[in-house]
Amino acid sequence: MHIHSSIAEMRAALTNRGRIVLVPTMGNLHAGHIALMTSARSHGDTVLATIFVNRLQFGPNDDFDRYPRTFQADCDQLAAAGVDLLFAPTEADLYPEPQQYHVDPPEIAHQLDGEFRPGHFRGVATVVLKLFNITQPQVALFGKKDYQQLMVLRHMTRQMALPIDILGGETVRADDGLALSSRNAYLSSAERAEAPRLHRVLNQVSAAVRAGEREFARLEREAASELDQHGWKTDYVAVRRQADLQRPQPREEHALVVLAASRLGSARLIDNVEIDAVGSR
Ligand code: PAF
Repeated sequence: MHIHSSIAEMRAALTNRGRIVLVPTMGNLHAGHIALMTSARSHGDTVLATIFVNRLQFGPNDDFDRYPRTFQADCDQLAAAGVDLLFAPTEADLYPEPQQYHVDPPEIAHQLDGEFRPGHFRGVATVVLKLFNITQPQVALFGKKDYQQLMVLRHMTRQMALPIDILGGETVRADDGLALSSRNAYLSSAERAEAPRLHRVLNQVSAAVRAGEREFARLEREAASELDQHGWKTDYVAVRRQADLQRPQPREEHALVVLAASRLGSARLIDNVEIDAVGSR
């Protein structure tokens, strides 16, 4: 695997590489990332991963400083997964001068996580557009665990007419259902034992919706309250349409997704469960 940190070197390494599949990450890789790398192989000729902890997408009270940085272990995993190229710029490489032009995403980015992490998706969209410009991929893969991120990036790509297919990779879970995430490292052992409740609660909401329940607001309240009774501090549990993350109309048929973000100790965990099209009763 060839590793590049400067934009110029990265660009030079991309000639005659065929169809490029990009998998952007912030490092601290786990099996979820590696599943994306493996899937990337079937979508093109060159698999290009990036590792960059992007300050622009962290708020002042977020975990930028303590975000786990495990570069050597990440490189070993990427090489073992057959990744061809790694772009791992420093902040000085990617932002040689203060970034003054940003992507300003619309309403889809201001709700849910955007409400609790103002500016987060502006930072994500800005760095991803910059990575797209540098690496010129034909395909880019993002994990569905960050469901709203995937939707914002898909929407940006469509609206900006970027010639890139945006693909979502399935969430990889531990045996007890907890979605793999770099932020699981912040959990104490007692919190780690409690953490799978998030997925269980989402599954309960999903089962109720599949069974025909349409009082979404009540389901959301009950799910948040169940988490909070067990020591969580819930930002939101929300039933939304998969297509645009808008609130579903009770009498229409939509593919839905139940999303949640909640804090357990010092970890803020997010997760979601998709529900295929369900109709009104
Ligand atoms: O999902 C992530 O790891 C990050 O938000 C991304 C897409 C690499 C942008 O920094």
